[in-house]
Amino acid sequence: MFTAIAPRYDLLNHVLSFNIDRLWWRRTARMFTHILNRPEARVLDLCCGTGDMTFALSRRAGKASPKILGADFSRAMLTRANKKSAGTTLRWVEADALNMPFSDESFNLVTSAFGFRNLASYDTGLSEIARVLRPDGECGILDFGEPGGMIGKLYRFYFRSVLPKVGTLVSGVKGPYAYLPASVARFPEPSEMLERMRRAGFREATWTPYTFGIAGLYRGKK
Ligand SMILES: C[S@@+](CC[C@H](N)C(=O)[O-])C[C@H]1O[C@@H](n2cnc3c(N)ncnc32)[C@H](O)[C@@H]1O
Repeated sequence: MFTAIAPRYDLLNHVLSFNIDRLWWRRTARMFTHILNRPEARVLDLCCGTGDMTFALSRRAGKASPKILGADFSRAMLTRANKKSAGTTLRWVEADALNMPFSDESFNLVTSAFGFRNLASYDTGLSEIARVLRPDGECGILDFGEPGGMIGKLYRFYFRSVLPKVGTLVSGVKGPYAYLPASVARFPEPSEMLERMRRAGFREATWTPYTFGIAGLYRGKK
């Protein structure tokens, strides 16, 4: 499914989110400045897609230039990420988030933007992230939420009725953009997600809503 939408993925992301996606990636990267400032740090951006979260991490790191790796199981997405990263030190790995080809305790930071929600098992995803993090390592999972109140009503109309039609029209692929609202509906509420994080071994688990809770960042420390 992700391979099918890869050619128009970036364009649709920016159009359908009115460019707010850039702010969310940037804000997420800023939360981890204390790790990104360390030249010896190793950072993994999981479900990296075409790499926009990875680039935000890299920009935030600046001259400290820690090792930053993007991983995804769609080669088409990684090919685009690779093209966009020419001349940088970013590296891309084809990998399944549920069975990662990385040793235990390899990374100081693992992020995932809008990818975690798609995993077939959230608990396996969390335990894999915990496994590859070093002690004291941190994780940041940015994903969609469902705001309440009037904003929630407007958002749900847009997300369930307008977005799938525009997404299908522009991508030329039936399915993925109808799947998107369904995948958000099946994603646990913040309280449940935080409980799952604690069970997977994360302490100081928190959720910070972005833009009325349309998106939000889960953070935890190993
Ligand atoms: C909605 S895109 C997000 C891409 C990027 N992080 C962003 O913020 O634009 C979700 C990505 O997760 C990847 N993905 C989904 N399940 C995965 C899994 N089990 N292992 C690795 N990647 C996965 C898809 O291939 C896709 O590129």
